[in-house]
Formats: sequence, structure tokens, C-alpha cells
Amino acid sequence: MSLSDAHRVTRLVNLGIFGYLMRPTIIGTTSHAANDAANSGNSDQVEFRVPEPADGTRMWEIARDSKVLDLNSSYAYVLWCRDFGASSVVALDDGRVVGFVSGYLRPADPETVFVWQVAVDADQRGKGVAGRMLDELFERLEPQGVVRLETTISPDNAASQALFAGLARRRKTDITQQDLFSPDHFPDSHEAEDLYTVGHKQWRTTVTPTFNPSIFETLESDVRSYCRSWPALFDTAQGSWMRTEDGKEYLDFFAGAGALNYGHNNPVLKKALIDYISRDGVTHGLDMSTVAKGEFLERFQQSILRPRGLDYKVQFPGPTGANTVESALKLARKVTGRESIINFTNAFHGMTLGALSVTGNSMKRGGAGIPLVHSTPMPYDNYLSESDGENSDFDWLERVLDDSGSGINRPAAVIVETVQGEGGVNVARASWLRALAELCATRDILLIVDDVQMGCGRTGPFFSFEVAGITPDIVCLSKSISGYGMPMALTLFKPELDVWEPGEHNGTFRGNNPAFVTARVALETFWADDTLQRATMVKGERIHNAFAKLAANYEGVSTRGRGMAQGLVFNDAGRAGKVCSLAFDNGLLTETSGPSDEVVKLLPALTITEDELDHGLKILAEATDTVSS
Ligand SMILES: Cc1ncc(COP(=O)(O)O)c(C=O)c1O
Repeated sequence: MSLSDAHRVTRLVNLGIFGYLMRPTIIGTTSHAANDAANSGNSDQVEFRVPEPADGTRMWEIARDSKVLDLNSSYAYVLWCRDFGASSVVALDDGRVVGFVSGYLRPADPETVFVWQVAVDADQRGKGVAGRMLDELFERLEPQGVVRLETTISPDNAASQALFAGLARRRKTDITQQDLFSPDHFPDSHEAEDLYTVGHKQWRTTVTPTFNPSIFETLESDVRSYCRSWPALFDTAQGSWMRTEDGKEYLDFFAGAGALNYGHNNPVLKKALIDYISRDGVTHGLDMSTVAKGEFLERFQQSILRPRGLDYKVQFPGPTGANTVESALKLARKVTGRESIINFTNAFHGMTLGALSVTGNSMKRGGAGIPLVHSTPMPYDNYLSESDGENSDFDWLERVLDDSGSGINRPAAVIVETVQGEGGVNVARASWLRALAELCATRDILLIVDDVQMGCGRTGPFFSFEVAGITPDIVCLSKSISGYGMPMALTLFKPELDVWEPGEHNGTFRGNNPAFVTARVALETFWADDTLQRATMVKGERIHNAFAKLAANYEGVSTRGRGMAQGLVFNDAGRAGKVCSLAFDNGLLTETSGPSDEVVKLLPALTITEDELDHGLKILAEATDTVSS
């Protein structure tokens, strides 16, 4: 939007219709956890129409009760209905107004409807009413030449961003964002307002590839794998959706193997990244001190470590999961002067030699080409016996550690995933994890939690071990820590373990500064309170319920998981692969995991909407039905 347009908005807002400047904040069905929690009904019985002046009182009441919207006088809402009804919508349930969208057309730009406020009665939230009102408005105005919708959203209002991103997705168009008003525009402490624009219904701009598509077979190595499960040419991605070069859309239930917990190209993170690049912020910084790194460290300490009472030093290893694992193993060996590491059945810790040595999968271990030594696999929770409330698998570990005749060398460390993602979504009980931590503490063995895949909120809390109330000696983080899918990793350890010599675990790409920027903004956006965590638990429950239904209805199917890492387990491994393949044919990206690829593993973005979740779960249910009949 040009500056003069911005002035027009300001002028219109100040024309005196409302007496004072209203806050163009948007709330509605997607508004944070309260809505997620309530998102169980549907809006089928709700009707929509043009508001009349008599509706103004109810609109005012809904805005007042929202406690979020800037409230104008009741007269302002009545007047709005008279003068801007044609560009607004009310939702009615049994004749009663339960929601509204107030919009206006600028005389100078009749192709654009500007949405001022969206509000839905508390007991109607979570049913998709806000999205349907926006659809209704756009559809009504389209025939008279309106081709785009604009609104303003403050930078930290992820729920409203998701609401309008959903509109863009349904219309198969772009959503763009640009600066509109900085806090300097406002006399009070009002935050910035960014302008979001949703375009005309059309396929996103498609590209014509300038290469021969066979290049992947002819030039790229046979080692490629995901492209075999998902044979498509992907080009763009937004939120939970990926699009191919010819405009086909796929709902992404894999989220970069857990690297995209906040979805693809999250607009808040994207803006921070673009701003940083535009001002020539350092991109490559080795391990030099930079503003981007300092700001990240500060935020990490304030939002993550301090509130959890965690006193960790932070190491930036090479920017991958495998590299943080390598650094953890090296550090544990250096600190203790011992060689051996205890790992667990079906563990996965990465593809480099040290990480492979503590990984279970025989095919991946075989790739090493040399003996993988100095690790001792032990049964993971429930490996030997189904959960009976006892820690019988754990007793075995305790026994061999304490038996001088067991042949086990005293280990430097135990490395564990609280939920084994690649290993088949195996969930360790909190009691098992506590017993393991206790065993390590009493025997002077370091406890390493590999939170590469399950950290950053995947199971609900930021760290997956929080549920057990334990404090590992060393923690590995990567995948979603940058928040934007950019390479970044952290190794956290207790200060007394910081025995590194300068440069002892070096690496050229440890200073991926744009990743530090998005990582900081992700923490600011999603971890300032427990909204995301609570929403993750609610959505995880939703997935679990859908899977439990399938397990009850079909022979040889079960389910397990924690938070938004959930697995649908098939006794007959072949069925899991077929379900994923059918799901792909129907526009859904899911992958298998487990030693025999017998588990359909779900790792959707934590920011996925409940509608999107239901859409994908329906595809999976249909695929399960097909392969089961
Ligand atoms: C628990 C765990 N650790 C380590 C890794 C390795 O991470 P990367 O592929 O970034 O090396 C993974 C990857 O899936 C993982 O799930």
C-alpha cells in the first residue's frame, strides 16, 4: 500500500464517525487457546446477511464482551450498519446476531474491501464462523468488482494471521503483509499494525520450470528419499500447505520432519527475516558475537531457561541434529574420561558416525561402513513388555549397570529420546524417565536428552522432558529451534560440564545469523505464555481421538503418541505405507516410521488450524478404511 493510501485509511478512521481512533485488532474463532479448546461444533445452522441498524446494538455487545476489541460507542455500531452494511456481515444463530465482520470500501479504491473488526460471541467460537463470514463477504462483493480484502493485524497476533491465512488458502491466493502503522502513529501505547492483503480467487502464480524434470533422476544421487514417497514438484508453501509448480496443494502433516513447528513461511518470522536481510544483517558469522546472536541468547534465557529454572550453558554446534548429538557425546566423554554410551532400542540420533553409533536402525547403521563401537543398546520403555505399571525394562538396565559381571563398561552417558519419533513414536512413561534420571544421578552417569525432534513444543511443553520433572545434564536441540526451517542447533549443558577448549568443537556454519533472528522472533511470538502449549495438547488430543476411533474400528491398528507427535500403528507394516501413499494421492503429506515402517507418523505444524487437522484426519481415515477392506 502506498503512503497516500495509508493516509487515506488514517483519514477515514479519524473522520469523526467514532469520535476516537479505534484499534483495528481482529478477534474471532481462531483467537488463541480459548477458541482451540472450544473448537468442537460446526457452524452449519448459522446464517449470514447484511447488517441492519437494528443489529448495531448486538454488534456493540459482542465487541464489548470480547474484551479484546477496541470498543466504540453503541451509536458507532448502529451508524456503521446504516452506512457500511453493504460491506459488512452479521452471523445469526436462530435469529440472534452471534458475530460480525465490519468492512468498508474506500471511495478511491472500490476494488478493495477493508475489514475493520471481526468478532464472534464466546459460545460460538471454534466453529469456523469467523472464516465463513469472511468468505461470505468476499463472495458477496466479488460481483461488484471487489478483488481483494485488506485488514490490519498487530505483529504478535498469530490467531488473526491464521484466520486471514486460512481465507487466502481457501481462495487459493496469496496473502501479503507490509508495514502500515508503527507505534509512533498512536498517542497511546498501541502496538504496530501491519497491513495484510488477500487477493482475488485464483491459483497462485505458477511457474514454468526451466529445467528438464528428469534432472532429479539423471543428476541427483539415488540417496534421495522423500521425493520418492511424494512424487511432485513443490514450489511454494504457507502455513500447513505446500504447493506444486502447477498449483496442486498438499496439506503437510510432516512439517519438515518436525523442523516446521510454526508452519511454512510464518508471516511474523518472515517479516523479521526480510527486515534483517534488507538491512544487511550479518548472514554468516562463524561463532563471532553478533547482535542477532546476542538477542537470541537473551530471549532464550528469558523465555525458556529462566522460567523453567534451568541453568544451562548454550553451545552452538554445527547446525544439524546430528552435530548437536556429536557434541553431546564428545563432551560427555571428555567430562567423564569414559568411552561407552548407553543408548536405547529403536533410538535415532542422526547419520554421522557418532550419532549412528547410538542409533538402532540396522539399515542406517550399515551405511557407516565401519564398526560402530562404544555404545551399548538397552531396552527402551515397554520394549520387552507392554506397560504394566512397572518399570520392568528399566530393571534390566539397573541390573546390568550394577553387576560387575555383566560385561558392561561404566558408561560416560545415557542418551535418550523421551518420545522416539523415527523409532515408531514410542513414548517413554514419565516414571520411566524419572527412574532413568535417578539411576544416572546415583551412578555418576550423564543424562543426555536428545530433544531434536520432540523439543520446541512438539509434545506440548517447550522441552519434552518437562513432563517428567527431570533436568538432564545435556540437551540436544535443533529442527524447530530456528522456527523457520533454517539450519540451527543448540547443545545445552550444566555449567560445570563446560570443559571445552576454545574451538574444540568447531564448524563453519555455526553462526547462521538469519536463523538466530527467526529463532528469537519465534520465542517472542509463541513462547511468551502457554497459549501454544495448551493448544498443542488440545490438538494432540484431537488427533489421538481420531486415531483411537480407527484403532477401535479396524483390526490390527493401534495408536500412541504425546502432544502433536502421534502414530497410527499397523500390525501389518505394509498397510501403513499404503495409507501414506493413498493420503498423498488425496493431497496429504504423511510419512511412516518404526523399524518396519509400520507406523503412520503425524507431526503437523503446531499452528495448524483445527479445520485443517480435521481435513487431514479425514483423508487418513478414508485411506485406512480403503487398505483395511
Ligand atoms: C531425535 C533426533 N536426533 C537427531 C536427529 C538428526 O537430525 P539431523 O537430521 O538434523 O542431523 C534427528 C532427525 O530426525 C532426530 O529425530
